[in-house]
Amino acid sequence: MKASICKVCGYVAIDGVVPEVCPVCHAPKTAFVDKTDMKTAQDIAVKGESEKKHIPFFLVVKECGLIPHAGCTDVHVKIGEITHPMTVEHSIVSIDLYIDKKWVARSSFTPDKINAATVLHIKVPSGTVTAVAHCNLHGWWLNETAF
Ligand SMILES: [Fe+2]
Repeated sequence: MKASICKVCGYVAIDGVVPEVCPVCHAPKTAFVDKTDMKTAQDIAVKGESEKKHIPFFLVVKECGLIPHAGCTDVHVKIGEITHPMTVEHSIVSIDLYIDKKWVARSSFTPDKINAATVLHIKVPSGTVTAVAHCNLHGWWLNETAF
């Protein structure tokens, strides 16, 4: 997978195209470098404990409970089928979310009171959601699902 990462904020351009400015922190194109160590669920054949703690896990809910009758689909994302630690020493810093490879949102986390999970309320009828989790010890992990 060809990807680039913003050295300022850690945003990953998963389509391999470096943007003119970072959509998260607005750093210029020159802030991006090639990212060759992205761990993607699709490339991992056998999942050990580390993979089970880091690969984003999805729950798609077609009937939104918060914004009903608007065609809203909820895509819940949690990090790891085994819950990832959330301590100062080891935590998920952020989850970046993309629809059809285009970045749409970032959830940032402090480790002390919350779990590494977030939700998107999507108003388009179908597509692919990609989640990129950033662990402060173990790097960036990508997974995607259709909705
Ligand atoms: Fe980790």
